[in-house]
Amino acid sequence: MAFDLVFFGGTGDLVWRKLMPALFQAFRHGSLPEGGRIIGIGRDALSDAQYREQIAAKFEQVEGEKRPSREEFARFAALLCYQRMDLAQPADYTRLQARLAERETQQVLMYLATAPTLFATVCEQLAAHGLNTAKTRIVLEKPLGHDLASNRAINAVVARAFGERQVFRIDHYLGKPAVQNLFALRFGNTLFEPLWRREHIAHIQITIAEELGVEKRGSFYDGTGALRDMVQNHALQLLCAIAMEPPINTHADAIRDEKLKVLRALQRWTPETLAQHVVRGQYSAGSVDGQSVRAYREEPGVRPDSPTETFVALRTEIHNWRWAGVPFYIRTGKRLAAREAHIEVHFRATPHDIFAAPPGQANKLVIHLQPKDGLELHLLAQGQSTRGARPGGLSPVHLDLDFDKRFGRERVGAYERLLLDVLDGRLNLFVRSDEQEEAWRWVEPILQHWAADPLGPRPYAAGSWGPSATSAMIARDGFCWREEN
Ligand code: BG6
Repeated sequence: MAFDLVFFGGTGDLVWRKLMPALFQAFRHGSLPEGGRIIGIGRDALSDAQYREQIAAKFEQVEGEKRPSREEFARFAALLCYQRMDLAQPADYTRLQARLAERETQQVLMYLATAPTLFATVCEQLAAHGLNTAKTRIVLEKPLGHDLASNRAINAVVARAFGERQVFRIDHYLGKPAVQNLFALRFGNTLFEPLWRREHIAHIQITIAEELGVEKRGSFYDGTGALRDMVQNHALQLLCAIAMEPPINTHADAIRDEKLKVLRALQRWTPETLAQHVVRGQYSAGSVDGQSVRAYREEPGVRPDSPTETFVALRTEIHNWRWAGVPFYIRTGKRLAAREAHIEVHFRATPHDIFAAPPGQANKLVIHLQPKDGLELHLLAQGQSTRGARPGGLSPVHLDLDFDKRFGRERVGAYERLLLDVLDGRLNLFVRSDEQEEAWRWVEPILQHWAADPLGPRPYAAGSWGPSATSAMIARDGFCWREEN
């Protein structure tokens, strides 16, 4: 099946860091269909050969087994070519049109890895040049707007040029193997479903912690912040995967309908919950992994008096029969103590405790997304050893299912999986416009509250777990975060 994959933003960071390595892995695994051509679009005047050289230089930095050998890269590079474009110039779309008409293809994928401010122009120009045919699919990278109004404006322009089934809105967290396994655990097994509700679950924690700071993206990040960068999309998508009802089948809309219902049922914000259930933080200087690191406000591209948050923790509830009254906590931030992403499902304590079990040790299921990918089921058992356990007392133990060990580390990565899904026309792991709008509708009151709050974000030392108010927030409900247990 011959295809053309056109990368707008073809010399940008995302293409170098994520998309080209993912395509190369798909190529290496033999899953990229034959007859593909990958066209990078950028403003620089580059020949095809120069573009290939630039990509070869980036691949040199790839570590370990993922780096291609010279022969492998030469075979992959044969797919690559380059087209110079000024995205505001209609004439440049005419040249793109001519290039695409050079050969017969079954599919044309337009991947918009540019600043979202360009999405509207590109979509309008593609339509004006007849490049929105039935064989075209369009892939949109986040952030899709910076609030509900801008998101709707982008979706409206895209909808004028393309049908919803042609639009692939990426949230790369949905492509992570752990998220696939969460769907498999919940909807391919019966074990947990009877327990997966308010009667048995006390609370749920979603943590996405990064050790890295804002790297070279200071000026982008300073206009974005953690709420827009991570919560509106990745964290809410994880929450949907945890909380949604079983879909009637695996069709994209069946899944997306259920996720949308979760978003619609999220507790609405009030002045009280905004004040008590949301913590924003910003990292000050500190130490990560033994290295001193500077404060966020000293990062290149960041305003010295920036009010942008690099950390968010919040508490919410889902107002439906399954989840009423169960707190869901989300926290995410940069320059935290570890790179860890996991979801913890805390089950209720036994109704009558005959063993005098240690406090805070009720059963829990931990879904690890990174750095490891796996499941841990925490139980209490009668300790046989004389060390640690009191005679007659219970000790915490856990069953550990390590998917990396079980299935091997060379599994399909998030971007590889999502790119192959675009080629196959499979929309299951992509976000529909109404879902995305609902997520913006929910985070917008937080943005408005912050804009009017002169206190700004709370500082936290780089290398810590965020502002202390985060612990106080969860402690008010009688719970604590994973590392505090
Ligand atoms: C991106 C954010 O969407 O996700 C980044 O823009 C963040 O700021 C990244 O670092 C985290 O992704 P991952 O897959 O490394 O957890």
